[in-house]
Amino acid sequence: MIVCYTVAELRKARARLPAPVGFVPTMGYLHAGHLALVRQSKLENAATVVSIFVNPTQFDRADDLASYPRDVPRDLRLLEDLGVDAVFVPSADEMYPPGFKTLVRVQEITEVLEGAHRPGHFDGVATVVTKLFNIVQPDRAYFGQKDAQQVVVVKRLVADLNFPLEIRVVPTVREPDGLALSSRNVRLTPEGRRAAPLLFRALSAARDAWLAGERDAERLRERVRAVLAKEPRIRLEYVSLAHPETLEELEGEVSRGLLSLAAWIDDVRLIDNVVLEGEV
Ligand code: PAF
Repeated sequence: MIVCYTVAELRKARARLPAPVGFVPTMGYLHAGHLALVRQSKLENAATVVSIFVNPTQFDRADDLASYPRDVPRDLRLLEDLGVDAVFVPSADEMYPPGFKTLVRVQEITEVLEGAHRPGHFDGVATVVTKLFNIVQPDRAYFGQKDAQQVVVVKRLVADLNFPLEIRVVPTVREPDGLALSSRNVRLTPEGRRAAPLLFRALSAARDAWLAGERDAERLRERVRAVLAKEPRIRLEYVSLAHPETLEELEGEVSRGLLSLAAWIDDVRLIDNVVLEGEV
């Protein structure tokens, strides 16, 4: 496995890789969810490139950026064990050198849900993903369903800017108690960790209602709120049932949708989602 710290090194390594090349962009502190993306890429491509870069431009809060967990040596060991071909670990200066002025903005679908609560977040994501796609030039790129809005935004970006690559979406990996894997989970207190599985239980309650025939959008959202109201440690930021591509909030009878939420458990913000019929 070759580890590249600069764009020039990565380009040189990339030129020697056999096609097709799969790419897994990450912010490091890898967990089983990331490893599932890498395994999928390994299955579908002749070579796999992973990036590890805690992208400062997608953090709306300085404390969140500062406390984001990092362990690059451990990440590199995990990736080596999985047989990854090349890892790109750029510094912030390498990605955003002095004088950097360009922003990639996907409109409208970035202004709701996560975008409404994390101003500028998706501008940071779209910009860094654009840069990474240009640097790595993958044939396929792998994203987790857990960040459902990110998937919608990146698919739009790829279509709108004609990137010659395919976006592959891998299902959310969960703990046995249902908690979606996230690098932020390590910041939960023991009490917070005990409360956290309720997020997926709330989404599952609404999905069960959906499977039993409930089709009213507001009643489905209310199911989620009702379950979470039982746990005072959880502060729900939003629950949404939205159109899976436009992300417009749905009202009345629905035939499919993306049911998603964001919630605070103490000072840790977690997100999760389920798709009601069909795939995002
Ligand atoms: O999902 C993430 O970890 C990040 O948003 C990504 C795609 C690596 C861009 O920084």
